[in-house]
Amino acid sequence: MNLLKNKINAEGVVLSETVLKVDSFLNHQVDPELMLEIGKEFAHRFKDQGITKVLTIESSGIAPGVMAALHMNVPLVFARKKKSLTLSEGVLTSKVYSFTKQEENTISISKTYIKENDRVLLIDDFLANGQAALGLIDLVKQAGAEVAGIGIVIEKSFQNGGKLVRETGYRVESLAEIQSLENGKVRFKQEKVHA
Ligand code: G4P
Repeated sequence: MNLLKNKINAEGVVLSETVLKVDSFLNHQVDPELMLEIGKEFAHRFKDQGITKVLTIESSGIAPGVMAALHMNVPLVFARKKKSLTLSEGVLTSKVYSFTKQEENTISISKTYIKENDRVLLIDDFLANGQAALGLIDLVKQAGAEVAGIGIVIEKSFQNGGKLVRETGYRVESLAEIQSLENGKVRFKQEKVHA
């Protein structure tokens, strides 16, 4: 997705050989116009999948997730990382270890919002080590629903999440795939052509 890649080139800051800072449009400040286009692109790529819900994880997945949900005319659910005061009964949980942050989070959703007949599109901002995506897949399975696909805004292809998550057999669509962050430069993988 060229609009996204141009934004990364213009505003992304390479913090190290493994970390890209995109606080100006995705992880802190949010660019609504760009998120709208990102949502449209996800809706286009998964248009024939009969999706009934979008599921993401707080906090940075919510902006692209809600825009995808808007374009697909379905609700967005976001998994919580912290215990909610009001979320007590009928809760599904999964443990997600972050290699980047070296901490474990228990993510949770209410059974009320993902049902057995749902076809769920998972959305996240980054695919790094794949643990968040695997945790979301686990929650959907526990709910007895179907994972219809996985949409990622930025995939770091040099980390092993992409491989791990694709091994589950689900379709993964990443809007910008980063091959490397070496020498302070973002290098993108060649993009597939989408009809
Ligand atoms: P994984 O889910 O793919 O295994 O990733 P990992 O645990 O390594 O990442 C943990 C957090 O760090 C996630 O955000 C993820 O989005 C973010 N992250 C990973 N690599 C990068 C990167 O290169 N740049 C940026 N900006 N973020 C990265 P989180 O803790 O869930 O934060 P948030 O959603 O609350 O913002």
